[in-house]
Amino acid sequence: MNEPRRWSRQATLGVVLIAAGVVIGVVILVLTLPQNAPLSPGTTSAGPLTPLALGERIFTTGRDENGRTIPRSAFMMFAGATCAQCHGSDAKGRTIRIMMGSFDTPDIRWSTLSQPMLEPEGEIEPPYDARTFARALTQGIDSAGGALNAPMSRWDLTLAQVEALIAFLKTK
Ligand code: HEC
Repeated sequence: MNEPRRWSRQATLGVVLIAAGVVIGVVILVLTLPQNAPLSPGTTSAGPLTPLALGERIFTTGRDENGRTIPRSAFMMFAGATCAQCHGSDAKGRTIRIMMGSFDTPDIRWSTLSQPMLEPEGEIEPPYDARTFARALTQGIDSAGGALNAPMSRWDLTLAQVEALIAFLKTK
């Protein structure tokens, strides 16, 4: 009579061990999955990026279609800064503290850029269009033709990359 009970205890132990193994396996899988997952929907190697995904990538990582860092001018310790780091991930602009001082970055959502802008001195700057936006990014010249201050980096962007950024900033 003892024989079957001993077997069943071993069987129970076996089931518990297998269950524990499955749980540990699932935990390991869940813990390792995010590291293998793509950085953003656009970073998979499956096909070309949509303009929107490319715009998001440039804005948040400063990298191009192939994942390479886009060349840009450097400002002090902001040499590798992305649009998102300076203008905020919501693109609404922010105040950046730097050593003893600080500087403000403007709101660059497309809904804002495409409106005329009343400057503190009372001047009205014309709205940005794709051409003046490209000029601001590549040459540091604002919509009124004035020079943008140094913290705003000059970016070596193609027309397609500029248009991708506009598509992304329209979603903000
Ligand atoms: C190192 C910080 C920094 C980075 C990186 C940066 N910007 Fe700027 N940006 C600024 C500052 C500061 C200004 C305001 C300059 C001024 O008013 O003279 C500015 C101005 C602008 C303007 C002009 C807005 C206006 O109202 O005239 C646009 C457009 C712009 N940035 C877009 C971008 C985009 C797109 C990126 C990424 C490709 C980017 N910036 C990256 C700091 C930055």
